Amino acid sequence: MISRLKQIIGVVGAAALLVFTGCKPSGDNANATTIKVGEFASLTGSEASFGRSSHNGTLLAIEDINAAGGALGKKFELLYEDDQSKDGESATAVKKLISRDKVVAILGEVASGRSLEAAPICQQFKIPQISPSSTNPKVTQMGDYIFRVCFEDRFQGGVVLAKFALQSLKAKHVAILTDVSAPYSAGLTTYFKEQFIAGGGTVVAEQKFTKDDKDFKAQLTAIKSLNPDAIFLPIYYGPATLIALQARELGFTVPLFGGDGWEAPELVQGPGAAAALEGCFFSTHFAPDQDSPEAKAFVKKYEAKFSATPDAMAALGYDSALVLADAIKRAGSTEGSKIRAALAATKDFDGATGKMTLDENRNARKPAVILEIKGGKFVYRETVNP
Ligand code: PHE
Repeated sequence: MISRLKQIIGVVGAAALLVFTGCKPSGDNANATTIKVGEFASLTGSEASFGRSSHNGTLLAIEDINAAGGALGKKFELLYEDDQSKDGESATAVKKLISRDKVVAILGEVASGRSLEAAPICQQFKIPQISPSSTNPKVTQMGDYIFRVCFEDRFQGGVVLAKFALQSLKAKHVAILTDVSAPYSAGLTTYFKEQFIAGGGTVVAEQKFTKDDKDFKAQLTAIKSLNPDAIFLPIYYGPATLIALQARELGFTVPLFGGDGWEAPELVQGPGAAAALEGCFFSTHFAPDQDSPEAKAFVKKYEAKFSATPDAMAALGYDSALVLADAIKRAGSTEGSKIRAALAATKDFDGATGKMTLDENRNARKPAVILEIKGGKFVYRETVNP
């Protein structure tokens, strides 16, 4: 069961009015006293770090939007559901948000697999969905109501990581370990392989596992005799830490590298984790020391509110809500088809993660950053432009 989490931001006055007048929100968006936005996120479970970060960014954006007067003379109200990082729960969450809560748009998810699960429902109900950070190409191919405010894995795997492995790591022979239960992982493997091989690299081994596996010794032992120059782990942070620990135990000294799925404080927490990942790399969407007025303002507000430095999920969660509010203002309406059309016309929008133009396939073209793990910290190394 999904635990019901509901938060009303900046609408205390409106809620009090409802109580005193006895009016009920009608579910007819034009008559609603607030603009209801739905969010589904992995607030608990195996990728809780992603969901919590993205959710904090989204909360901050809703506060900012309301402080600036909201849109169409109304404040925004964020209704959110925890999908617990579990298969099946995203569909349930999004159905509830649309049918029961009558939200005008959906924000979410971080993980591609869960965005893919929700997309057919949003498309069917003609409720625009904006994924902050799902990078698998299939996500926005689910229909013309599905958008994302981040780059996709043809860029992250095929351009950023393939080039990084060949040119920066000077790795000619790479082994890959894929989580075949995550569309994100399978996709990133495919796009990396194509371009790494085209650039002269050799994939010496392709090993697989599935979500919740904890022992990777068999896969790592199979790779060992093939002497890879580096190991590519296009997977989420949980198994990435375990694989790093087990690889070092088996005597691997080569660098490990991954994509945005590595980005969580948990990656380097626990005994030996930071040491096992020292000198390893991953690509992601945002570095907090990024040099733009929007990034600086966002980092400052985020640190003040959450006493933590924002990561890519936080920044993209923030941007997803800002892009939505901007579209609603331009649409002059909360009708799904009108928001959709305005979102599709998003051009040069300055967000915390950079300038965003949504292309004809509802994707954003943006640079990626490479971070290096040094002394248990994620340190900016380079920016790769599309
Ligand atoms: N891009 C990952 C996916 O599509 C999710 C992710 C985004 C993880 C940003 C970390 C940071 O599944």
